[in-house]
Amino acid sequence: MTEQPTDHLREFVVSLPKAELHLHIEGTLEPELMLALAERNRIDPPFPTVALAKAAYDFGNLDDFLRLYYAATDVLRTAADFEDLTWAYLRRAHADGVVHVEPFFDPQSHLCRGVEMSAIVDGIVTGLRRGEAELGISWRLIMCFLRHLSEAEAFETLTAAEPYLDVIHGVGLDSSEANNPPSKFAAVFAAARGLGLRAVAHAGEEGPAEYIWEALDLLLVERIDHGIRAIDDRALMKQLAERRIPLNLCPLSNQRLQVVPDLTAYPARQFIEAGVPITISSDDPAYFGGYIADNYLAAAAANGLSRDELAAIAADSLTASWR
Ligand code: HPA
Ligand code: ZN
Repeated sequence: MTEQPTDHLREFVVSLPKAELHLHIEGTLEPELMLALAERNRIDPPFPTVALAKAAYDFGNLDDFLRLYYAATDVLRTAADFEDLTWAYLRRAHADGVVHVEPFFDPQSHLCRGVEMSAIVDGIVTGLRRGEAELGISWRLIMCFLRHLSEAEAFETLTAAEPYLDVIHGVGLDSSEANNPPSKFAAVFAAARGLGLRAVAHAGEEGPAEYIWEALDLLLVERIDHGIRAIDDRALMKQLAERRIPLNLCPLSNQRLQVVPDLTAYPARQFIEAGVPITISSDDPAYFGGYIADNYLAAAAANGLSRDELAAIAADSLTASWR
């Protein structure tokens, strides 16, 4: 059988050392592991079979996805569950040439079910340390606040995390974006920064360019997750380029959540031409149809990115990381 050009390009993409900077660890829960953990914890799985789980992964928007994503996290109960989840992700990331990861975790989606912060953090960190020892993948860990909840609840989460600040390096902001602007969380981000934590935020995924400004000006973030709507605002594009603030893009996520009408409309090329640094990540790969190499290939196909451009994106991901 003759090799297809995409096979060569995949090999090239995999060969590039890269950092994955936009990855929700809960979003790496593959249906097979979901079912195995449900059995181990003797609970009813959210889906009875892998096929039915996959059939349900058909989303009209971000909130559609989030409902299912939070339901699936119910199988994560013990430190061992979080460790297995993290290790399974790291093996896949390693196969795609990832040398550094900065995963997000959503403690509020577990604390509310009675899972202790110690089980969540110890499990994830044990997995990350194994990945460092056995696969050579370095890491930083980012705790996200759920933006559909109140700022008071985010403060409670920050307090619960204080014993673990030696292994938590930054805070992020995720969940349902519409009507939950970054300004709602300005005080808790200031408190987090006061504790020595670094900051990132999802902005401009379903929300407007204005939310990206707020993330920069009020939360003082170093990177923006998604940030697609920056294309609507020239002054913002200029600011991102001048300050070298990266946008952590996830093309397959944006396609599956219908943030862009289709990938031919994907704006990676516009960001490159405007001098805005971009990185490429997989967001919630168990749900969106691919890990990081698939996301590089999707952007390359959509925007005709050259090998030099893909290599520059990979290099920028390492520069933008907190290694
Ligand atoms: N956006 C917002 N919240 C999220 C996402 C996302 O893409 N994935 C997991 N939580
Ligand atoms: Zn995300």
